[in-house]
Amino acid sequence: MSDLKKHTISHVAIIMDGNGRWAKQRSHPRVWGHVRGSTVVSKIVEAAKESGIGALTMYAFSSENWCRPQSEVRILFKLLYKFLLRERERILKNNIRFRIMGDVSNLPEQTKILIAQLEKESQFNSGLKLTFAFGYGSRSEITQAFNQFIKKNPGKELLEEDLAKYLMVPDLGEVDLLIRTGGEFRISNFLLWQIAYAELFFTETKWPDFSSSEFKEILENVSKRERRFGSTTADQDLKSNIDQARYNKSITRG
Ligand code: FPP
Repeated sequence: MSDLKKHTISHVAIIMDGNGRWAKQRSHPRVWGHVRGSTVVSKIVEAAKESGIGALTMYAFSSENWCRPQSEVRILFKLLYKFLLRERERILKNNIRFRIMGDVSNLPEQTKILIAQLEKESQFNSGLKLTFAFGYGSRSEITQAFNQFIKKNPGKELLEEDLAKYLMVPDLGEVDLLIRTGGEFRISNFLLWQIAYAELFFTETKWPDFSSSEFKEILENVSKRERRFGSTTADQDLKSNIDQARYNKSITRG
């Protein structure tokens, strides 16, 4: 049994950041970073499957991303479409359950059809739960969950466990590890409810350079942290910070 399986990381969420800067550093248009980034998505899905984690949730397009230039938004739509065409067979063969969380109503009709097909075809798959957050914003998800609850239960007090049941993909449960690439230290309205006790990992690596080996290294590294969910062991906190600092140093060196 791998170290990971002995530990508690089951649900990993990723903020795939740094595409634009990666492209700019190479004097390419920003969208080139997204094109390269989309190939990395496939590699990390494969790595997640190999690592035996239960769920991988990837932030592909935030509700705030609608403000980007139309041409960039169109490319992101196209990349999602191509991913679905390219990976459909592999997703089904590997027993992966695919879902989108977010508002896809503005996507082209063809893409919506592919999404609906793959969600249906993979609905009984029992392996990795692969979810793309697309047109997603966490505050909106929480607000919708709250409103659905009060509509169905007028006058009833909302409990934490009630709200969790009304989230977009309730069976994903809590996030154990949130990774953000690209060197920024922000959560950007991603899974705010679900990350309450998540371990956080920020890497300088920009998404198009992120690799399966770095992903697995992070899993190994974080699985050694002691997760206390609010209890105490002060020196363990210190150890986690030192681990993260050492890791960041090795990445910038290498
Ligand atoms: C952030 O980079 C990234 C996004 C807004 C989109 C992420 C999308 C992909 C990785 C490709 C989509 C692929 C599929 C399969 C859906 P940024 O542009 O904000 O980078 P920057 O911070 O350097 O500007």
